Amino acid sequence: MTTDLASELAGARVLPVLTVPSVAHAGPLADALTAGGARCAEVTFRTPDAEQVVKAMAAHGGLAVGAGTVLTSEQAERAVVAGARFIVSPGYDADVVATCRELDVPVVPGIATATELMRALRAGLDTVKLFPAEPLGGIGILKALAAPFPQARFLPTGGVGPAHLPVYLSHPAVLAVGGSWMATTGHLRRGDYDGIRRLTAEAVRRSTG
Ligand code: 3PG
Repeated sequence: MTTDLASELAGARVLPVLTVPSVAHAGPLADALTAGGARCAEVTFRTPDAEQVVKAMAAHGGLAVGAGTVLTSEQAERAVVAGARFIVSPGYDADVVATCRELDVPVVPGIATATELMRALRAGLDTVKLFPAEPLGGIGILKALAAPFPQARFLPTGGVGPAHLPVYLSHPAVLAVGGSWMATTGHLRRGDYDGIRRLTAEAVRRSTG
């Protein structure tokens, strides 16, 4: 991963993970996230409109927009064409990593074990998504994995809520924390953009306080 994205994540501290049912949500969602103080967002490739959403949210201009749940090289290529500034995977896939290298786009693979982390480090990647962080053991597994790999930087994600932010973010190896709680599909279907703004602002406040 380039230093640029690492410092961008370290500056942002929270990464909203978005599963967006329709591109119609993209504009108001980007407005709500930026109003709440978010600086970046991950749009998951779990909905048919994901590419369009990346495109629209990237064009909004207020957020560094990446693509998440990228499982194949082909999805990584489509995400980059749509304007994704970075690629996130739930697990480690050598083809996705190689494609991101070719495209010169930062990639953050998911890891859940020391073996997977070693694979990422061997590929020259020092920033990984610890996923799914809470079911795996939360801050306990993060500390245990960080100890033998001082060069690794983590983006814990999965089952995380606002109450977990201070403890993760106080660990020096954690760049930022990811999660969907700030902007859920439920919020989007209800048109509750004010709720998204409030939860994002609360997360940003907790992450800096
Ligand atoms: C992801 O893709 O990163 C996860 O779905 C986010 O996990 P969460 O929904 O438990 O926050």
